[in-house]
Amino acid sequence: MDRRQLLESILGVSGAALISPAFAGLSLPASLASDPINDHSLVSQFPKGFLWGAATAAYQVEGGWNEDGKAESVWDRFVRVSGNIKNGDTGDVACDSYHRYRDDVALLRQLNCRSYRFSISWPRVLPTMHGAPNAKGLDYYKRLVDALLEAGIRPLATLYHWDMPQEVEDAGGWPNRDVADRFADYVAVVARALSDRVDHWCIFNEPKTFTQLGYWFGKFAPGRKDPLAFLRATHTVNLAQGKAFRVLKSVSAKAQVGSAFDPAPMIPASASAEDRAAADQWFRLNNLWHVWPALTGAYPGGVLPESELPSLLGLQPGDEQLVRAPFDFVGLNYYTRWTVRAVPKGFQGIPGLMADAQWATGPHAKTDIGWDVYPEGFYDIVTRMSRLMGAQMPIEITESGAAYNNPPDAHGVVHDPQRIAYLRAHLRELARAIRDGAPVRAYHAWSLMDNFEWAEGYSQHFGLVAVDAAHGQRRTIKESGRWYARVAAANRVV
Ligand code: FCB
Repeated sequence: MDRRQLLESILGVSGAALISPAFAGLSLPASLASDPINDHSLVSQFPKGFLWGAATAAYQVEGGWNEDGKAESVWDRFVRVSGNIKNGDTGDVACDSYHRYRDDVALLRQLNCRSYRFSISWPRVLPTMHGAPNAKGLDYYKRLVDALLEAGIRPLATLYHWDMPQEVEDAGGWPNRDVADRFADYVAVVARALSDRVDHWCIFNEPKTFTQLGYWFGKFAPGRKDPLAFLRATHTVNLAQGKAFRVLKSVSAKAQVGSAFDPAPMIPASASAEDRAAADQWFRLNNLWHVWPALTGAYPGGVLPESELPSLLGLQPGDEQLVRAPFDFVGLNYYTRWTVRAVPKGFQGIPGLMADAQWATGPHAKTDIGWDVYPEGFYDIVTRMSRLMGAQMPIEITESGAAYNNPPDAHGVVHDPQRIAYLRAHLRELARAIRDGAPVRAYHAWSLMDNFEWAEGYSQHFGLVAVDAAHGQRRTIKESGRWYARVAAANRVV
């Protein structure tokens, strides 16, 4: 059986059977704008068996951009356009994890991590759209996963952390609906190669980020600025998510499948009815656009004019079944809050969107990348998402962390007290959310190590570990990393 036949048999036979009625009763409240939180009680303890981990993504750490048969990705192309990336940085070498993954696994052990969220590079394992899988690329991930398992660390594999093959982008990229099938082809290749050793999968990382910044605002690869292409892209991604879910389930009976979303509290810029309505609208677009279709088959109302959904998204009859993905768990990434104001004349070419949202406009301290430090928002969004998705939905925190760019001292030690303070405050809010009923079972710090931070290049340091590219990629655990290791060992905030 070739890859296409395998996929057809998977999608044809079991597609309908996997649609679960479990989420049939989910509905949205009238308003989703956030109010301030008043309970600041300190909670430190995490539930027994809670999984402590760290996260990275292929393009941000692997390097080896053109080695062993890997094809070009949209990021390989994007970084080469002058002006796109701070200081002209690229991920060509990054942290060289393609060759140094054993060092990474050793670091995870030193940090007492029992889960590692990494991502798989599509162009590394399936370099051409209709060609054969790349055995050398797949071998890399087999070796990485084996090293993790040997170290007693659970692999959590993300299938798409933004590095689409350039060939697929040239065929139209995410705005082209057919790309959902190309993605399902790729997922079938990975599932067949790795599901003997990987049980936990995230299909997408932050679909809202790569569709908005990649196709609407042009700040991330592939750098397009076309609101309608963005809307089409969101729908293809939702189709791809449903298809990938069914592929994974069909290949492996033990697959536990989710996606990683990045919902954030939407704070109205003022108490006016208009700003509150804007915050509600932005919540639906940013926080629910990819999880709601997966769980219910429908887009959240109140964003686009209902009658224009087919033309704006390219919706076709039957899509409400195809987009469904009754997840086994949902991943949440959290960094900061958004402030939303009404824009009565409409915003940036999206019909019906009367809201503009921005980061970092609150009266709060900022991290070095300029994002508001807003720990209570972590409690707000985790409890709110849990209520919306239903208490039966397990949650994993798939990313959380902060950029603080402290340089090493004369002895090579990185003192980064602000990161410790940031993590401490956020973990307490997470512990409080769990105490109040949110079924969160894992936390992954972003990031294991300093890495290629997209348009910011290497200028922003999110790592628990410093990486010195000038000295043979030397990895040094920061003070925050040592602190995190103590938290993971104690299972409580120290
Ligand atoms: C998230 C991305 C991750 C990293 C952090 C800082 O949006 O998923 O790759 O860049 O932000």
